[in-house]
Amino acid sequence: MTSKNNKSPDNALVKSTEVNYRDDVKGSPDKYFFVAMLTRDIELEDAILDLVDNCIDGALRVRCNELEEKDRFDGYWAKINVNEKDFEIEDNCGGIPWEIAKSVAFRNGAPPNANRPEGSIGTVGIGMKRAIFKLGRSAIVFSDTSEDSYYVEIPSEWIEEQTNWDFRAYNQEKAVETTGTQIQITDLLDSAKKSFTDGAFLTDLKTKISDTYHILISKGFKIYLNGVEVPGRNIEMCYEETPDNDGKFIRPFLWKYETDDTKVFIAIGYRRRIRKEDPTNPHYETKTAGISVICNNRVVLPYDKTHRTGWGVGDIASFHNQFSSIVGVVDMWSAKISNLPITTTKNGVDLDSDLYQLIRNALMQGIKIFTSNTTSWKKNESEVKRRFDNAPRRDLSAIKACSVGLSWSAKKSIKNASIFKPDLPRKVLSRTDSAISFRKPKSDIRLVSEFLFDDENEAPKRVGEGTFDYVLKAAEKTRRR
Ligand SMILES: Nc1ncnc2c1ncn2[C@@H]1O[C@H](COP(=O)(O)OP(=O)(O)OP(=O)(O)O)[C@@H](O)[C@H]1O
Ligand SMILES: [Mg+2]
Repeated sequence: MTSKNNKSPDNALVKSTEVNYRDDVKGSPDKYFFVAMLTRDIELEDAILDLVDNCIDGALRVRCNELEEKDRFDGYWAKINVNEKDFEIEDNCGGIPWEIAKSVAFRNGAPPNANRPEGSIGTVGIGMKRAIFKLGRSAIVFSDTSEDSYYVEIPSEWIEEQTNWDFRAYNQEKAVETTGTQIQITDLLDSAKKSFTDGAFLTDLKTKISDTYHILISKGFKIYLNGVEVPGRNIEMCYEETPDNDGKFIRPFLWKYETDDTKVFIAIGYRRRIRKEDPTNPHYETKTAGISVICNNRVVLPYDKTHRTGWGVGDIASFHNQFSSIVGVVDMWSAKISNLPITTTKNGVDLDSDLYQLIRNALMQGIKIFTSNTTSWKKNESEVKRRFDNAPRRDLSAIKACSVGLSWSAKKSIKNASIFKPDLPRKVLSRTDSAISFRKPKSDIRLVSEFLFDDENEAPKRVGEGTFDYVLKAAEKTRRR
């Protein structure tokens, strides 16, 4: 409610000196409008991933008490089941603690002090509600925590009832030992029904889950779609153990940046042998080339090949099929995800953030090393084929582990940043020609110019070359005799 002051506002447009309160005017959002806006800028797939993010955050909340090894998710899972009637996601990730459910979890937008675990993916407090309304009109959220069981109902009438924004929660007998959350969304919208019965949509969703959660999957988290476990898709780079005779290695470019609350690790490298520029080659796969950006273990930009990761910016080459051997990873972590340049739909980065600008400059440095190296092998790719094929490949965590022993140099221009530039083998083209240069008196040059070209003012370079060609012809004639 607006304040009902007894004083008139200090504004020239207000003519009355005495306050004369009439009534309140409406300022609350219309629910239909609110729900339409909330769900407008997110795709169905991304809305579903928001629900998976919540399972992972749930696991983060309880994991510390249960798992010995830090940074692992073994034993935790999320199961998604979809059909033309309803959507269901179930996890064993601890449930939603009642205090959190009661005060913040079901609000459309969380207050800044929302109780989130360290390193969580959730940022603004809308993902779960947005997903529910993107998919359907009613839902029920069951939660089994170590303390108790309850469920919250989101009935289809909620959207019509304009004044009450709250939902009702009900007690439930604790029937199972496991703790977790189960969300069932019904009254599916036509768009969701259509997608859930479309094989192509489900295949794309599976790929998107692999690409988005491959780090978490590699750390033990399991995700099932309609009963089938979704595999991870690791990004690996060639990492030679021993140098060649010239002291060169095929290894990634690395960059790291660490402050008290934020860690960034970048690796850009070759994932396999350099491809010949031959678009007819059936193995010519570019989809999984490019740079992936990760925030708190969750990929927010998979295999990017655009200006967002520096391709085609300034003097950096635009992505081209020829560069399909180049891959990169930006791995960011912060206890508070709001420190990271992540968008609220979690499928992009905030290009304007100061941190991301530092990161993009580093990416450009790395991309340049590999594009210019690729170009140096152009037309000679087969010479290094075997070397690439034999080079061991390492994923992000293995690269991080062995990067400790590398000789990093601190970046003077950026506090807290350091860099490792690989000394890659390059093709040095052996020239079959040499330059000749000499000086002669100007008068002699004019004389020779007159002799060769009937013009004493030819450029000295041309006169020099003409002289050489003249003598060369004579020398060839002598040899032939
Ligand atoms: N599966 C789950 N397990 C445990 N807690 C959950 C689960 N789903 C939701 N929650 C709780 O509900 C809260 C609200 O979820 P919601 O997705 O709406 O917002 P958020 O995750 O905080 O932020 P974001 O809008 O970025 O997703 C979460 O912060 C979390 O505390
Ligand atoms: Mg969320």
